[in-house]
Amino acid sequence: MRGMTAPTELLDDPLPAEPLAIAARWLAQALHEHRQPNPNAMMLATSTRQGVPSARVVLCKEIIADPGYVVFYTNYLSRKGRELQDNPRAAAVLHFDAQHRQVRIEGVVEHTPQADSDAYFASRALASRVGAWASAQSEPLQSREQLLAAVAAITTRFGVSGDDGLVPRPPHWGGYRLWAEAVELWVEGAARIHDRARWVRSLQRARDGQLECGPWSATRLQP
Ligand SMILES: Cc1cc2nc3c(=O)[nH]c(=O)nc-3n(C[C@H](O)[C@H](O)[C@H](O)COP(=O)(O)O)c2cc1C
Repeated sequence: MRGMTAPTELLDDPLPAEPLAIAARWLAQALHEHRQPNPNAMMLATSTRQGVPSARVVLCKEIIADPGYVVFYTNYLSRKGRELQDNPRAAAVLHFDAQHRQVRIEGVVEHTPQADSDAYFASRALASRVGAWASAQSEPLQSREQLLAAVAAITTRFGVSGDDGLVPRPPHWGGYRLWAEAVELWVEGAARIHDRARWVRSLQRARDGQLECGPWSATRLQP
């Protein structure tokens, strides 16, 4: 019951220097309390080279506060994968409805290191690993039978029997890191006087290809 929950703690004043540690704490709390079915569901917006936006839900697998990125996994050849190839920028939203909190993240995406994708893929349920091979995500499908036939073919190909089978990670499936250039935290306040703040920093590609992050600067915003 809404009226029985303790009021959500507002953001500190002055604002903390670093926002993603707070976001990571909020995610951990939402996962722990599990008061919504998928507390780590994250709306992910991408856009084409021409700036036409699209959005969908993915699961936020990690928030790494330092150096500051969030991780999700998907098919690199999907619609979102193709859009991120053409325009490697994204915006994401986590909504912790039960805790009356929202996190917005905007920034630059890059593939996670292959070893991380391998490790995460290996930890997934067998059906998910088979599905990653069988589904050419975002491509047209003639019928549901076509997909079930693809699942059966992959099961045979990798010699899956029962709950067992060595299914390697498909090369077109893996993680992305969304490196935060801006983070906004929102907390529901009493009488609709919500609390809201935005942190921004520079992100620059160094000569060795690594992203270099500047210091965060924070501003409280009118809700
Ligand atoms: C709760 C929930 C979690 C989802 N998690 C993922 C995910 O982690 N990765 C993914 O590729 N798709 C996930 N999906 C499916 C996506 O929303 C989407 O349908 C799919 O990725 C294809 O999107 P695209 O055609 O824009 O690339 C999830 C959907 C829901 C409703």
